[in-house]
Amino acid sequence: MTLESAPDFTVPADRPVTGEQVTSPGSEWWRTAVIYQIYPRSFADSTGDGIGDLPGITSRLHSLAELGVDAVWLSPFFSSPQKDAGYDVSDYCDVDPMFGTLADFDTLMATAHDLGLRVIADMVPNHTSDQHRWFQEALASSEGSAERDRYMFRDGKGPNGDIAPNNWESVFGGPMWQRITNPDGTPGQWYLHIFDVSQPDLNWENPWVREQFFDILRFWLDRGVDGFRVDVAHGMIKEEGLPDYTPPMETASMGGTAAAATDLVPGIADVPPDPPYWGHSGVHDIWRGWNAVLAEYPGDRVMAAEAWVDPLEKMALWVRPDEFSQAFNFGYMFTEWTARDMRKVVDDSIAAFGAVGAPSTWVLSNHDVVRHATRLALHADVPQGSGIGPKTPGKPDTASGLRRARAATSLMLSLPGSAYLYQGEELGLPEDMELPDSARQDPTWLRTNHEKYGRDGCRVPIPWEADKPSYGFGPSGNSWLPQPEDWAPYARDAQEGLAGSTLELYRTALALRSEHRLGAGAVQWLDGYGPDVIALRNGPVTVIVNLGKVAVELPIGELLLASEDIIGGALPADTAVWLRS
Ligand code: BGC
Ligand code: MG
Repeated sequence: MTLESAPDFTVPADRPVTGEQVTSPGSEWWRTAVIYQIYPRSFADSTGDGIGDLPGITSRLHSLAELGVDAVWLSPFFSSPQKDAGYDVSDYCDVDPMFGTLADFDTLMATAHDLGLRVIADMVPNHTSDQHRWFQEALASSEGSAERDRYMFRDGKGPNGDIAPNNWESVFGGPMWQRITNPDGTPGQWYLHIFDVSQPDLNWENPWVREQFFDILRFWLDRGVDGFRVDVAHGMIKEEGLPDYTPPMETASMGGTAAAATDLVPGIADVPPDPPYWGHSGVHDIWRGWNAVLAEYPGDRVMAAEAWVDPLEKMALWVRPDEFSQAFNFGYMFTEWTARDMRKVVDDSIAAFGAVGAPSTWVLSNHDVVRHATRLALHADVPQGSGIGPKTPGKPDTASGLRRARAATSLMLSLPGSAYLYQGEELGLPEDMELPDSARQDPTWLRTNHEKYGRDGCRVPIPWEADKPSYGFGPSGNSWLPQPEDWAPYARDAQEGLAGSTLELYRTALALRSEHRLGAGAVQWLDGYGPDVIALRNGPVTVIVNLGKVAVELPIGELLLASEDIIGGALPADTAVWLRS
């Protein structure tokens, strides 16, 4: 990016303007925030065991403040047997020794707040670990007991009860039911697990379960957290009678609903009904209760839903004023890289969330999906959660993926509302497609007999220092997933201050976003640049993105940001610029 050598651009005032989109009112910080997701086991390791930890995070927080984000969201660091990388919690009110102690958490919190960063914890209420005391007590108690009623126990079918209660299939592969053995050694009831067999689903119809989580929320709110990201917020209530369900087609596996992710945009009528375990309207009552707990605390605490529901109009029901503050916009994440689709999803998102007074969110990567620097160069659809690996056909080209990713991020950070970043994307990290089979740990890989690679490729520990063992991830060369040998150029210290680096692009975009208050702005579309170009104005900034294959002429204007070198006044393919309007 050679800002200095760029010609002087002026955006003509007579450019046709269509379809203004305004954001929601309200002054809470999270409406406009950029929130950085830390995946603790892969962020920074202080102990040398190859697993990231809380002191490691604390030691690196200043670099996130320098990057210019407003908040961090920490994926789970609670006590856990780590069968699903911490999304299998055995004690919600303690820190897993692998990650540190509660005192380490308090230090992290205090350091973050001193740096002006808010901290969001990841609450996992749909299921516990099978090692959680509640589940162990349920196993030890008799059928029909209060302890059993904390979870979803059912009798099996058939004369001996040895057929699963229904035909549901786990998100990670295999049946969604597991039969238990009674304390006296006889075969017993079955329990439901939407995810791994080690993650039994809680029974959220049971008021006792609801009460426990009010206490858990207060435990972390008392420790100062600024809010929660809520895991599988769409799965907690199941349809009465647990009817059999056969998905209409091979769908996005992680949380995917019956509709493919790219079908999010049409009206509700176009979308097949949700499976009986996703998106049940009974969940809204739970979220109203949680919202009320957060409201007991001063300041604006945020509650962000991981809710894979289609379409956007339905997702918007989750962010009504007395429920979640915001929800991840997965429709945006999976939108095809075309001007028409991107513009439509931006319009539809702002309209759908805005209709209930919520900000839209924007997100391109997280710990469950193929990193967008690779995903945007994939030639075929990869169902979400399936992952990619050495045998995936049509190897994506890293350079064109990164180019698109930089353009896509430049667009995302210009939009009003709240944006989520996933650790490593500011370094332009690609998905690691070459992880050896023996290193893979995702339950998806294990439960599908290695048919689906799963999500390990986006979870590889991130590089900090090009010349250090484990690229400075920790003090030793250890890394719980092996790091690729060619990652030195991605290291943070190799990109710091380097003109044109992805890190500097993110830093510039975040500084401009903050300076011009783009998060609180509105989208005004500018037409006339051709079918493969998106052009919009947000406050004093004009954003032009070329999603096509041929360069387009740029208007005259002061260049604020460019995702690639701009030479001679033309906007190349897969490139975004911000100009001063
Ligand atoms: C998390 C996943 C996790 C699953 C089960 C999610 O959607 O983001 O990483 O495996 O919930 O807790
Ligand atoms: Mg460690």
